Amino acid sequence: MTENQFLRQIARQLLAGQLKAAADPHRPRWHLAAPVGLLNDPNGFIEHDGRYHLFYQWNPLGCAHANKGWGHVTSTDLLHWQHEPVALLPTEAYESHGCYSGSAVSDEQGRLTLVYTGNVKYPDGSRTAYQCLARDDGQGGFEKLGPVLDLPQGYSGHVRDPKVWHDGRQWLMVLGARTLDDKGEVLLYRGDRLDAWTLVGPIAGSGRGGLGDFGYMWECPDLFPLGDRHLLISCPQGIAPQGEYYRNLYQCGWLAGSFDGEHFAHGDFHELDRGFEFYAPQTTLDSQGRRLLFGWLGLPEENEMSQPTIPYGWIHQMSCPRELFWQDEWLCQRPVAELAALKGELTSFEGVVSEFPGIAIDSAWLDLTLTGAGSLWLGTVAELIWQPGRILLRRQNWLSGEWEERSAPWLGGRITVLCDCSSLECFVDDGRQTLSARYFPGEKPQLSAGDAGEGGKICLNHWPLAA
Ligand code: FRU
Repeated sequence: MTENQFLRQIARQLLAGQLKAAADPHRPRWHLAAPVGLLNDPNGFIEHDGRYHLFYQWNPLGCAHANKGWGHVTSTDLLHWQHEPVALLPTEAYESHGCYSGSAVSDEQGRLTLVYTGNVKYPDGSRTAYQCLARDDGQGGFEKLGPVLDLPQGYSGHVRDPKVWHDGRQWLMVLGARTLDDKGEVLLYRGDRLDAWTLVGPIAGSGRGGLGDFGYMWECPDLFPLGDRHLLISCPQGIAPQGEYYRNLYQCGWLAGSFDGEHFAHGDFHELDRGFEFYAPQTTLDSQGRRLLFGWLGLPEENEMSQPTIPYGWIHQMSCPRELFWQDEWLCQRPVAELAALKGELTSFEGVVSEFPGIAIDSAWLDLTLTGAGSLWLGTVAELIWQPGRILLRRQNWLSGEWEERSAPWLGGRITVLCDCSSLECFVDDGRQTLSARYFPGEKPQLSAGDAGEGGKICLNHWPLAA
């Protein structure tokens, strides 16, 4: 499709579909979702010239994984987003099957520059990928500068998702990759310019010298300093479940270590989120020195054609904006401080589970101090269960009708739950563990008393959230 054909179709979809999408009772009140169509990974997250820019993988023409371009929103507070003209559409031969994920930087002249993957699929099922540049054209759009990097030797066509930063001396880039013998890796490149890159080598992944047998593909890497460490976040694919670990189709996790500009010496892999849907996160360092993160509250290939939002012409949403902390040798995530501005009037409860009266949670912030054991219902399709040392989130799968469960260790600290019409984000022990999920509770879900386990007591602070 040419750009003009694309734009005409997008205009048609938006005019016909925006009000329908907005009328969905499961539409988030304050989380970011695409106006119509499918949203997946956060891309190009950056604070530039006093505004936060967030781009996202977007199929503006439908709810399937197709026609991937980059949607674009901007904000000054990370909460109220202004939709900007679509940033990238797959109109060129080198990106014929999608302008895939990537990042944004301010170039040497301070111009907002996007680095993304041009994805090309061939009729025989094979594919290739190019890492490409596009630069702010000063008129709300982006001028494509074309490919700057081809596939490296020994790798399949699955090399993508460039995350680029400047270390004060040079540009650095990490890429997700799959070798020709199906090992997932993170590749490091360096360059003096954004259009000339040299491969340094793999810095983490499956296989010898890495984590051993640990997935056939690693997507969406992100490497950054935090506290006295470097953290590498990435999304390995092809890891079998082990007990309560790795229960989702694909994983998203972190490695902590030290990075000397060439090598990354790191410890074990830990899941970034222990819930049902969380994938492809991206971070940025803002002007206040905060390491901020957005994740996609979805997973590739998960029950997609069945979500109750599809009849309304949209699917998927972002996580809330989170701030990262390195604390007690662990990666912690908390909702950004700005979110408190959405809080309405406080209602509190303290007492045993059976006396809990119930309260609306369609859009709410819950701070829970829990003792003993017990459970609370989140609408009728999800349940938060606490036991000494463990937190469990159960939900009824919207496709199969079956109940499924995720769990995480719990040190007994505060649990914050953010609810928004069709999403739950639980921050356990002040963000040492998070459990995120989509759920489809219908209109007006309530938090209500569940099992009164042994000594189960609740101390709840509840605020409605309104954007
Ligand atoms: C992760 C991902 C990326 C890719 C993009 C395509 O969800 O598969 O690896 O760039 O989505 O939309």
